[in-house]
Amino acid sequence: MGLNAPSLQSIFQMLVFIFPAYVANSAPVVFGGGLPIDFRKNFFDKKRIFGDGKTFRGFAFGLLLGTITGGVLASFFDVYGLAFGEKTILAFMLSFGTLVGDAFGSFIKRRQGLKRGERSFLADQLLFLVFALSFAFAYKPALLAQLTWEGIAVLLVITLFLHKFFNEVAHSLQLKKVPW
Ligand code: CTP
Ligand code: MG
Repeated sequence: MGLNAPSLQSIFQMLVFIFPAYVANSAPVVFGGGLPIDFRKNFFDKKRIFGDGKTFRGFAFGLLLGTITGGVLASFFDVYGLAFGEKTILAFMLSFGTLVGDAFGSFIKRRQGLKRGERSFLADQLLFLVFALSFAFAYKPALLAQLTWEGIAVLLVITLFLHKFFNEVAHSLQLKKVPW
């Protein structure tokens, strides 16, 4: 396996591919709120299961807007040779993985005794991507080979920077209390 830097074209394709996950991760910040998915219940350790930051509305809007975004992108761009319907299902899987990963991150944070909104590098910034990719590969295993491990590494790094950037923007627009 040689180490080839991905071309600009392939980076563009990766960003088109992953964009629904970014939307699914951001939509709850704007549209979330209301009943938490853990129904405000505690885990065995007497701490919240997920906490007030993971809500049904956030989950629903993330899933919906992430999938719609993928459908819209699907009409304009190629994503690893997939058909329109496949690209839309892929966007749904990416969005679903994002939200599950995000909730799993909160689950871990609560077990560590971190409060809602407290910072956790892994749980806040990377877990959603790992889950999004895993869900995508579960749906289309061939994508793993097309994306390549170098591609995934590049995507992780790009996502770290974009996550930081978008959260700074959300913070300065007063959508988020903290810039992470
Ligand atoms: N949000 C939501 N539903 C989700 C995910 C997020 O309503 N499934 C909203 C919440 O208002 C949340 C905000 O988006 O406060 C920011 O999301 P995130 O940073 O993931 O949550 P935190 O509040 O930081 O909570 P945690 O410590 O559990 O990550
Ligand atoms: Mg957070």
